[in-house]
Amino acid sequence: MERMITQLMNERKATRQFDPNFHLAEEEVHELIEMATTSPSSSNLQPWRFIVVRDEDVRKQLRPLALNQAQIEEASAIVVIVADTRMHERVEQINRMNETSGYMTKEQADRKIERDYETYEGKSDIERFKIAMFDAGLITMSLTLAATAKGIDSGIMGGFDPEGVASLFELDEHLVPAILVALGKRREEPQQTTRLPLQDILL
Ligand SMILES: Cc1cc2nc3c(=O)[nH]c(=O)nc-3n(C[C@H](O)[C@H](O)[C@H](O)COP(=O)(O)O)c2cc1C
Repeated sequence: MERMITQLMNERKATRQFDPNFHLAEEEVHELIEMATTSPSSSNLQPWRFIVVRDEDVRKQLRPLALNQAQIEEASAIVVIVADTRMHERVEQINRMNETSGYMTKEQADRKIERDYETYEGKSDIERFKIAMFDAGLITMSLTLAATAKGIDSGIMGGFDPEGVASLFELDEHLVPAILVALGKRREEPQQTTRLPLQDILL
C-alpha cells in the first residue's frame, strides 16, 4: 500500500546495515528510477544518468572507492547517479517529445530548443556542473522516497572518490558521478537523527 508523502518523509532514514540476502529485481530498481524522474530539473533538461550496480566484482572494485563502506557490497543494488554536464545535448529530444505529446506546438518547441541550447551551451563548465549537481540532488531525494513508498530502504552516500568512480565506469569527462544510493532491506532499526529547530534555520 502506498502512503502519504509526509509519512514517507518521516520514515526514510539512512540505512547502513543491509540484509545481504535480500534480492531486488532489476525491474524494481528501474521502476524506482522511472518514478524518480518526475523530479523537476532546470529547463526540464533532466541532467541525470544512472548506473545500476549489482555485479559482485564491480561492487568489490567500487567499495574501496567509497570509503570501504559495507553497504556497497551488502545492499541489493547500488545506483550511481551521474550528473550530465552537457545536458543541452538532449534539448531537441526532450522538446520534440513535448511536441509529439501535444504539450507544445511545433513553434513553441522550435523556439525552446533554440533558446535553451544557446543558453546552456553559453554557460561555463562550472555553471553547468552546478546545475547538473543540483538536479542530481533533487532526483536523489525522489529516488529514496519512491523506494520508501515501496518498502525499500535506502542510504545516500557522498563519501566516495568521484574520479575513481568515473574511471571504473569509463565515463566521459562530461559525466560526473554525483552520489551513490544503496537500496535494499535494512537488517536493524535505523539510527534516529535530530533536526535543527525552526527558529535556528529561519534567517
Ligand atoms: C549528500 C549526502 C552524502 C551522504 N554521504 C553518506 C555516506 O557517505 N555514508 C553514509 O553512511 N551516510 C551518508 N549520508 C547520509 C547522512 O549521514 C544522513 O542522511 C544524515 O545523517 C541524516 O540522517 P537520516 O537520513 O537518517 O535522516 C549522506 C547524505 C547526504 C545527503
